This record gives sequence, structure tokens and C-alpha cells, in this order.
Amino acid sequence: MAVLLSLNVGMPVEVDWRGRTVRTGIVKDPVPGPRFVHRLHIDGDGVADTAGHGGPNRAALVYQAGSYDYWRTHFGRDDIAFGALGENFTVDGLADDAVCIGDRFRIGQAEFEVSQPRVTCFRAGIRIGEPQMAALLVAHHRPGFYLRVLREGQVEAGDEIVQIEGGPEHMTVAEIDALLYLPDKPVEQLRRALRIPALSVGWQGSFRDLLDAAEKPTVVSPGWAGFRRLRIARVVAESASIVSLHLQAEDGAALPAARPGQYLTLRVLGAGEPAPVRNYSLSSMPGAAQYRISVKREEHGLISRYLHTAVRPGDWLDAAAPRGEFVLTEAANPVLLISAGVGVTPVLAMLHALAGTEREVWWLHAARRPEEQAFAGEAHEALAKLSRAHEHVFYSAEHRRMDAAALKELGLPAGATAYVCGPAPFMADVRSALADLGIDDVHTELFGALDAITPGVVGEQRVPPHPPPGPVGPGPEVTFARSGLTVPFDPIRSPTVLELAEACDISVRWSCRTGVCHLCVTPLLSGSVSYRPTPLEPPPAGSVLICCARPESELVLDA
Ligand code: FES
Repeated sequence: MAVLLSLNVGMPVEVDWRGRTVRTGIVKDPVPGPRFVHRLHIDGDGVADTAGHGGPNRAALVYQAGSYDYWRTHFGRDDIAFGALGENFTVDGLADDAVCIGDRFRIGQAEFEVSQPRVTCFRAGIRIGEPQMAALLVAHHRPGFYLRVLREGQVEAGDEIVQIEGGPEHMTVAEIDALLYLPDKPVEQLRRALRIPALSVGWQGSFRDLLDAAEKPTVVSPGWAGFRRLRIARVVAESASIVSLHLQAEDGAALPAARPGQYLTLRVLGAGEPAPVRNYSLSSMPGAAQYRISVKREEHGLISRYLHTAVRPGDWLDAAAPRGEFVLTEAANPVLLISAGVGVTPVLAMLHALAGTEREVWWLHAARRPEEQAFAGEAHEALAKLSRAHEHVFYSAEHRRMDAAALKELGLPAGATAYVCGPAPFMADVRSALADLGIDDVHTELFGALDAITPGVVGEQRVPPHPPPGPVGPGPEVTFARSGLTVPFDPIRSPTVLELAEACDISVRWSCRTGVCHLCVTPLLSGSVSYRPTPLEPPPAGSVLICCARPESELVLDA
């Protein structure tokens, strides 16, 4: 018979963690007597990070006394007390490899349903001072699990735990956890998991994505590894401020096809020391033998000035293979190609890719004045060949802006997919205007760093990227391409690439910091890394998990 051994609660607190402040609900302690369990919480208990914890699917976390025994032996410690791993219910019985998603239990007056395994997160090890805990919970198949509350009521340590129903498919917590986080994801197992209605929406979404990826693989390996030399075949002025560079292979052979909307990463030797790295969208026709990028001259832009004034046909540039997920997907619904200024380049490639289709296409472009509009003739010509095309150009110098009112007047089709590229405020305004019109399938291209995800870290101000303080590291150079920064690695002060990025205030995304969750996955443009610890599942080819990576050579990351 299973028993609730300890009922643990705690309100969020702020703790020091490596010189930073983290707000966390991990600090839970046993309480005597009964507590009322509500749909979303237990009296006296709280959630700090609602993105990763809490909500109806994660109302109470369960962990087994048997696993505490296991970890005490594993670490050779006897000071790990119930509640230290953040669980609300410490139980005797209900092992992760026996309890199934969808099982229902009565504890005291309340009834519960098993909804998902614990989410891996660096905070799992904060209280016991074991930074690898997030990975260990998964690797040792002892994650613990969450309960959804079916009937509210009082519970108390000492209550019997009575199973009232078994979950469909009989997939245990340990099985489901391994299916998400460990290698080998048989399609039939993914389908079984998706047949469990009790599985939380978030985990269902992850399994659906994995199943889609297995059934319709869309991940295409980069056309080549690292950087290769491309020769400038032609330089063409497109407007007063934009030039196009046509690039070809050294031997003149056709270059690997890029998907419409992808970008090329250039390392511009000669424009600075160390050589700066920048991304430029491809505007060429998909499948063309050469690539075309288009560069706007920026007043203080070191690289754009160099590309406008110093390069000539016959010169060489170092380029990494086309990459990027801002790509036109095949569908039959109307498509909106929306751009401002030089943001026209990726949507121009998409427009060319739509040639010969029956798809309804809306071309919406914002420019200051006609003479500053690049590719006006080329776009117009391509649109004229489509059977269902609409073309609208907005010149701000003529007091015609692409604002919410103007978009509303157009009568854009509901159910359209929009691809938007331009300055960040423009994309934000367009996205919001489209949402008001009921168009939510909106894709945008962002060349700067992605928004950071740093769960629980509070009170930090964003500052522009900079070299790390202190002496220059002795290791290989690491280039963060989106952030425009190259710095030497320092294995002592920043033992991982993630820690180096943090020392430079580069925008980063992470959760487990131990190679489990893959949130920190970053495209690797060139170089090689080793891992410590080794990730439980390696990242896709051409990418790196920066939380546990160390450079083995000079690195260029798309970060
Ligand atoms: S932060 Fe989870 S794998 Fe890197």
C-alpha cells in the first residue's frame, strides 16, 4: 500500500546562485497536519516561475522516498531531507517505473491524476548543491511526476494512497520521460503517448513535434560544413543605398540550393580584426546556381561600408552554408509577403519560389520613396506572372504608411500565412495589426540575438554584448555572430560556452544547464566542441548545446 509520508510546501524565495539572484519555489519543507489542496495549489505553497511550473497540469509534484534512498547512496550523503527536491508529496511507493500517465489516485479527501513527469530545470539541484541533478534525474530514470487535481480536499502526511483508476496505454512516468529526453524515439511509442488524454498539453505538443519530424523530416543539413570561399561574380546597385553581391563557387559549379527565406553568414576578412561575421538574407531565386545577397549601406556600419566600397568582382568572401527557419512552407492558403526597406530580400526569394503556383499572394512593401525602393521592377514582374497576386507599396515620403489602418483597409484574407521582414518595431507593429485582423500565423525574421530565456533569474538589466571583464582567456576564439563579438575562451573562468556568453552579456536561452532540455541549442557555423557532461541526447548536426560545450577549435556560433 502506498502512503503519503511527507506533505511539503513553501512559498517562492530569492536565493543566491553563482552571484545571481534566482526566484524559485524549490524550497519546500514538511508541514504537520492537514492542508487543503485546490485545483491550482496547496495551501501555503507557491510557484515562482509559472512558465515552467504550476497550473492545472502541475498542481502537485510527487517524489518517492525510494529515490531519496537512491540519491543518498549515489552521493554518499545522509543530509538530503524530504522536500529538498521540491516535491509536495514524498511518498512510499508509486515508483516512476510503475506509475503510469493517466493513473488516478485518492489521497485523503482529494483525487488526482498523473499528468506528466517533472520538468528538467537547473533549480532541481539548487537546494542540495548538486548542479548535475537535472540530468541525473533523467539519466537514472527517477524524475518524479506531477498531479492534476480532480477533486479538491484535505490531505495529510500518513494518508493512504489508493489507486482508483489506471491510465490508458500503460506508459510509465519513466518511459514517457525517457521518450522525450533520451535518444531513440520509436514512432509507435510517440503515437501511444499521444493517445493518453491525461498527458499535459505541453508534453503532447513536444511529442507531436517529434512525431511530425519523424514522419515528415524538414531538417535539412547545411549545404557544407564551416566556411568556404565564394567568389563575387557581380556587384549590382539596386537603389541609392543597396547593392547586391552575386556569389559563385570557386569552380563555377552550382551552389547547394537554399530554401526560400534563408540567410547566408559571411565572415568578412578585411573589414576588421578579428574578421567580423554577419548574416544576409538570400534574395536569389531558389535553385539558382549563384547566390545573391543585398546589403544596405549603414552610416556607421563597418561591414556594410566595406562591402559597398572595397569589394570588386573577382574578390572572395568566406561564407557559411545557407541556414534559417524563416522559410516559405508549402501550403495552399493565401500568403502575405510583407517587408520594409532591405527586409524585402528574403520575401523576394519566397516570391520567386511561388512562381507557377495557384496560391493567392499579397505583396506589401514599405519604402521611404520610389527611388529608394530596391527590386521594385523585379518584384512587379514576378507578381504579374501569378494568377492571384495583389501588390501594394507604401511610400512614407508620400504620407502613405503601412500601419494598422492601412492593413485593415486592404481586406486581407483570413486564414493567410504572413512572412514579415524589416526593422524590429515594424515587425512588431505588423504582427499586432495582423492579430487584430485575426491573422495569427505570422513568421518574422530576426537578425539580432534571440530574446533570452533565463528561468527564475531576476533583477538583471540587459546591456550590449562586450568582452568578458578581466584578463584575456588563453583558449580558442569564439565568435557570437548575431551579437557581433569575438572573444577568446577561458576554461577557468567560464568553463562552458554558455558561461562565456553570459560573461559577455550575450542573450542566451537555457533551462537545465546539463545537456538535457536542448533549450540552449545553437547553430554552429564552424569549429568543433567537446562536451562535459556529455548530453543525454546529442543535438542535431550543425548545432551545439552550449550549456555543456567547450571549444576544441575556433568557433563561430549563430548567437
Ligand atoms: S540548457 Fe538544457 S540542454 Fe543546455
